[in-house]
Order: sequence, then structure tokens, then C-alpha cells
Amino acid sequence: MTILLLGSGGREHALAWKINKARGNKKLFIAPGNAGTSEFGTNVSLQVNDFQGIKDFVLTNKVEMVIVGPEEPLVHGIWDFFKNDAALTHIPVIGPSKHGAQLEGSKAFAKKFMARHNIPTAKYREITAHTEGSDFLKTLAPPYVLKADGLAAGKGVLILNDFEEASNELKTMLDGKFGAASQTVVIEEFLTGIEFSVFVLTDGKTYKILPVAKDYKRIGEGDTGLNTGGMGAVSPVPFVDKKMMQKVKERIIKPTIAGIASENIDYQGIVFIGLISVGGDPFVIEYNCRLGDPETEVIIPRLNNDILDVLKRLVSGKLDTVRIQQNKNFAATIVLTAGGYPEDYRKGDVITMDNLAKSENNSLIFHGGTENTEGCLKTNGGRVLAITSFGETLEKAVDASTKTAGNIHFEGRYFRRDIGLDLLKK
Ligand code: AMP
Ligand code: GLY
Repeated sequence: MTILLLGSGGREHALAWKINKARGNKKLFIAPGNAGTSEFGTNVSLQVNDFQGIKDFVLTNKVEMVIVGPEEPLVHGIWDFFKNDAALTHIPVIGPSKHGAQLEGSKAFAKKFMARHNIPTAKYREITAHTEGSDFLKTLAPPYVLKADGLAAGKGVLILNDFEEASNELKTMLDGKFGAASQTVVIEEFLTGIEFSVFVLTDGKTYKILPVAKDYKRIGEGDTGLNTGGMGAVSPVPFVDKKMMQKVKERIIKPTIAGIASENIDYQGIVFIGLISVGGDPFVIEYNCRLGDPETEVIIPRLNNDILDVLKRLVSGKLDTVRIQQNKNFAATIVLTAGGYPEDYRKGDVITMDNLAKSENNSLIFHGGTENTEGCLKTNGGRVLAITSFGETLEKAVDASTKTAGNIHFEGRYFRRDIGLDLLKK
């Protein structure tokens, strides 16, 4: 089977690693990939939003399945592009249609979808005019949650304690702080609780739940400082027990999939549900239409199934025959970031690894922002590497990743040493 995987982060390296383990003959291309993905396939110099370039490549190389890592091409309609082109229509694209991707691509669309299907989420108002927004803010207690409606590279959510500041920020957002993405702003009630992520594989009718994860978004230890794409993740999540999963399934997953089905939304991929437990009751914080990064670096290694077998069943209408098998051990991933990240960060620093330490801890090293130039491995992005390790306990998994992370060096290297530790105290 010939596969094209789109993306270039740690998520795609983890997927490439897993595809490489699948049974049978396969040929993998990754566009554009990174230094890590090239270990399991051929990197192709194509951008993920270059649909025409992707079409030419797919036809020339007889690609039989396209797996989409990041949200952008999905929100821009790559699924529909394939479906509506006679030369491509037979090639399955793993991901939702443009309509389905609106669950991530428009916060207002997602909120209205949840309202229609009685899915628990924070109270909200969709705002396009400053006065109306300011009046709504007055009815809420701080902190105030402002969300740009559209995609804003993970930066579109602002949480502010002060009314004046929130009202001013609302104005800058409506005036185009995030371009067209913030011409509409969703203002939400702030929910207090602990967050976790559930990943559901669906064909738009039936579904399978993948391992649960929790990611750590803030740059600083103790969840402080600026938001990032994610500084680490763990799976499973101790407080997400059977009882909690039952609530998530009944109150959130079932109505979400039933909603997708009843609204005739074409969906053949992942619904990533960002949840918050408020006093033991799950609420949706957001939907995404793809796997998370760095959550993929823990959930994919914990998945014991043959990933291509699962995806083939998904696209042939046989998802119900899949039995998801999870590794019983804990997995923890720790992200090593470039100096300065998440603000302007360094690039081009040489990365050195102590291979012995790597094998001692049995860690998997997934590349994010890396490239091979002049015969050596260099940093080339904010989130450089994600180090995943297993353990019989969460503590052991985190310890192993921390040890390995400490043996990888580059100028400005930073990582959090408290990933998962908050969960041990509970
Ligand atoms: P989002 O991009 O919607 O996931 O929001 C980014 C982060 O903002 C989330 O992971 C939460 O930590 C926080 N957040 C978003 N919405 C809320 C809310 N209604 N209440 C509390 N925190 C929120
Ligand atoms: N780690 C959060 C995300 O992928 O959106």
C-alpha cells in the first residue's frame, strides 16, 4: 500500500513510526516531514495546503491513501478536493470533509452544533460588534474567555482577569488582531476544573475511542506562563476512570457522533474532544478535527492495533469490526523546545544525543522541529523533539522521559520537569 502522510511535527513522526510497524508491504511518503520521519519513509518537498501539488504527486506515485496530520488542509477542504475530482475520488483521505472540519475551524459553528445536540459546554455568545460583546462581558464574572472564531495557529484564545482589558482585547480582536479569524469572537463563561483529551475515530456513523491523554499547554512548570502547542502529555489519565469515561461517552461522544450523522456531515477521521471535568462532570472546551500534538506521541505508542488495518477498515465501512487494543502501561512524553519558544525562538542549533542513555531508558525520540543539514541534526522549529517513555506507573514513565531529555543537548534547550506530576498528588 502506498501512503502519503501530510505534516511535519512530532505527531507525524509518531504516525510514521506506527505505519512502519504495520503488517504487509507499504511505501510511505511524508510531505513535508522532518528529519525524524525520513527514517520511515521518503520526505517530499510539498506544502500541506498545496492541493494541486499533492494531486500531481498522488497520481504520479500511485498513492492509495492520504493521512492528514494538521488541521489546516482539512479546514481548507482537502477531503472535498479529492472527493470532487474524478481522478482522485477513489483515493481515501483520512480526515473530515470541509463541513466536518468546521468543528475546529469555527468556534461559533462548534458551539451551535453543541447547542443543537445538547452537548455540555460553557455558556457563550457569538459576537461581531463591540458594544454587544462588552454588554455580554458585564453579565459574566471574571476571568473572561475570548476566542477568535477561526483558526489562529493555537493563539486565538485569550483569558483575561480584568473587565477593561477584556473589553479592549475584544475590540482589537474584532478589528482584526487575528485577521479574518477574529472578525467573529466567541465569548465564553470560564469553567474551573481539570482538562483532558479524548480522541474518537469515526466514519461519521459509528466510532471507536482511542487512548485518553492529558497535555500540558503552558510553557512554565506548575502550568504557568504563555500558552504553547503543548509541552508534554501523558496517557492514560488517572482521574479519567471508568465512571468518568461512561459520562463522556453518554453525554458527549454519542451525541457528537449522532449529530454528525443526523446532519449528514461527511467525516472519516478523528474527532479530538478537549474536555474539562468540572466537579466530576465533563464539559467540552473545544473540538479539533485531527490528532493532537503532543498527545499523539503518547496515544499512538499505546495503541497495540495495526494502524493500517484500522484505517483500511475505517474507509471500507467496517469500523465496527475493529477492537481497539491498548497497552496497559503508562506513556509520558516530554517536549524539548528551542530557546525563546513560544516567542521568537532560536533555529539552526546543533542537537547532540547520548545514544546510550536513550537505549537505557527505552525512550522513543520523536522529531518535531528538526532538520538534517551539513551532515548534522539541527533545530528548525519551536517544539524540537518529543521524548516518549513507558512505565508501569506514571511516575516511572515520566522519570524515564526526563532522564532521556536530560541527555539531549542543544543551545537554549528547555523542557518542563513536572509533566504528569500534578496527577500523582490526586
Ligand atoms: P481552546 O483553543 O479552545 O482549547 O482553548 C485553549 C485553552 O484555553 C484550553 O485548553 C483551556 O485551558 C482554556 N479555555 C478555553 N475555554 C475555556 C473555558 N470556557 N473555561 C476555562 N478555560 C478555557
Ligand atoms: N496539544 C493540543 C493540540 O494539538 O491542539
